[in-house]
Amino acid sequence: MELHKFHVLLAMVFVLFLVPVVHGWGLDGHYSVCKIAQSRLSKAAAKAVEELLPHSANGDLASVCIWADRVKFRYHWSSPLHYIDTPDKLCTYRYSRDCKDEDGVADRCVAGAINNYTNQLLTYNKGSGQASTYNLTEALLFLSHFIGDIHQPLHVGFTSDRGGNTIDVHWYRRKAVLHHVWDTNIIETAEERYDDSNVDELVDALQKNITTGWADQVDSWESCSGNMTACPDIYASEGIKAACDWAYKGVTEDSTLEDDYFLTRYPIVQWRLAQGGVRLAATLNRIFE
Ligand SMILES: *[C@@H]1O[C@H](CO)[C@@H](O)[C@H](O)[C@H]1NC(C)=O
Ligand SMILES: *[C@@H]1O[C@H](CO)[C@@H](O)[C@H](O)[C@H]1NC(C)=O
Ligand SMILES: *[C@@H]1O[C@H](CO)[C@@H](O)[C@H](O)[C@H]1NC(C)=O
Ligand SMILES: *[C@@H]1O[C@H](CO)[C@@H](O)[C@H](O)[C@H]1NC(C)=O
Ligand SMILES: [Zn+2]
Repeated sequence: MELHKFHVLLAMVFVLFLVPVVHGWGLDGHYSVCKIAQSRLSKAAAKAVEELLPHSANGDLASVCIWADRVKFRYHWSSPLHYIDTPDKLCTYRYSRDCKDEDGVADRCVAGAINNYTNQLLTYNKGSGQASTYNLTEALLFLSHFIGDIHQPLHVGFTSDRGGNTIDVHWYRRKAVLHHVWDTNIIETAEERYDDSNVDELVDALQKNITTGWADQVDSWESCSGNMTACPDIYASEGIKAACDWAYKGVTEDSTLEDDYFLTRYPIVQWRLAQGGVRLAATLNRIFE
């Protein structure tokens, strides 16, 4: 009973304070990306991550993967770092054209932030025990969150609808905005149907897919062009393409989205979550190698 009340309270807190401002995957999406990633870390990367995690995480990166969404009020400057707005209907992304905030300040988008926090983490332990000038705990939490966000197709969306945030739809019988359908509703519906409403079962299913159905793609997901440590531009270009091909496709204001949409889009969500996890691990492994 007490536990039940606690859950209801927690749900209310989420509904009131988090859902309207969440950018990117919801809690379970980010949790899945970080769970998958932590299971694929090299020895050196696993050690560094363990050292950098806050004590409250108890060594579990997934438990703090949503941190960057929680600090958006405290760190107001970080809000534009969760997404990229691209020109309406173009379905392409270019860093130099698109990676900026609403005031036009360059680099202030999720791709710029991934480069930024990768570069900060590269200062880890360089120069024998010298403390970094950056807070590398925050750098790790931001990077882990943003590599998740950039894989949510509507995080690289059109400018005028703010990545689907202004498109009202119905998700089955409930009102929602398209952006939130991709952050949360598709994953929730899948968990209810297939996973006993349990995020760890979702993670297990994704892990199995990574080692079976997608096994022959994983190498190419991991690789980064040239000698780069992080490759957010590749992920962003895939993102806007997936947004056009799957998220926006066939959706207009007041569309009702149900099984037709859910059954064809859930595989895309699974694929992007798996890619996010694999690539977060690959990036951390390159950083700490
Ligand atoms: C880079 O990280 C610093 C420290 O968190 C932050 O102040 C700055 O806004 C970040 N810039 C980008 C583009 O991510
Ligand atoms: C680094 O950031 C974390 C999370 O915000 C904070 O708890 C910690 O006190 C910071 N460390 C330093 C040395 O400022
Ligand atoms: C992923 O796993 C599910 C079962 O959990 C299966 O139905 C689906 O075909 C798999 N997809 C791939 C691409 O392996
Ligand atoms: C990668 O780095 C190596 C050694 O640092 C260099 O020889 C090589 O030319 C670089 N390759 C690219 C594509 O930048
Ligand atoms: Zn986010």
